[in-house]
Amino acid sequence: MEKKRRFRSNGNIVLIGFMGSGKSSVGKYLASCLNLEYISSDDIIEEREKMKISDIFKKYGEKYFREREKEVIRDVSNRKNTVIATGGGIVLNWENVENLKKNGVTFFLRTSCGTIYNRIKDDKTRPLLDVEDPISTIRRILKVRMPLYKAASDYIIDTSRLSVEEVSEKIKNYIRRIEDEKD
Ligand code: S3P
Repeated sequence: MEKKRRFRSNGNIVLIGFMGSGKSSVGKYLASCLNLEYISSDDIIEEREKMKISDIFKKYGEKYFREREKEVIRDVSNRKNTVIATGGGIVLNWENVENLKKNGVTFFLRTSCGTIYNRIKDDKTRPLLDVEDPISTIRRILKVRMPLYKAASDYIIDTSRLSVEEVSEKIKNYIRRIEDEKD
């Protein structure tokens, strides 16, 4: 069994990427392997608003959601020893990226349009993709966000053909390397 260990620098591991890229599944698994806390910015928004994200979009619109998201990101960025799964749109506001990077290493879980579509097609919880032609929408949003995800990330991991365990292993290797360099 793998020895439980914390991220010695006490910082956060921040997962960024498009909807359906596996941020929450990888985040939960990774946190349990490394004995770190796990949080999802989307879960915190839902808890604070006492409403599902799709309902927040419906009732108040995207602009309102982005404001709540910014507040949550500001708060969670102050944490330590935490794996943070972020919402896919946090890169739209650079203040989010700056806050998350203050105390964390960012990993972009890059995923192809086809993989994203297969993962989200029966899921109605994502208001931005609850549209007539989700594939074109994914393609269009990805095109805008790809440069932002790249610029925001310290490391990029292609996740399309990898399991949750394999993605987590890659992240653990990067973390080990970061810590070895510090020794
Ligand atoms: C969004 C992604 C969602 C959620 C909201 C908006 C986006 O999170 O924050 O629906 O703009 O990409 P996930 O990436 O966890 O699905």
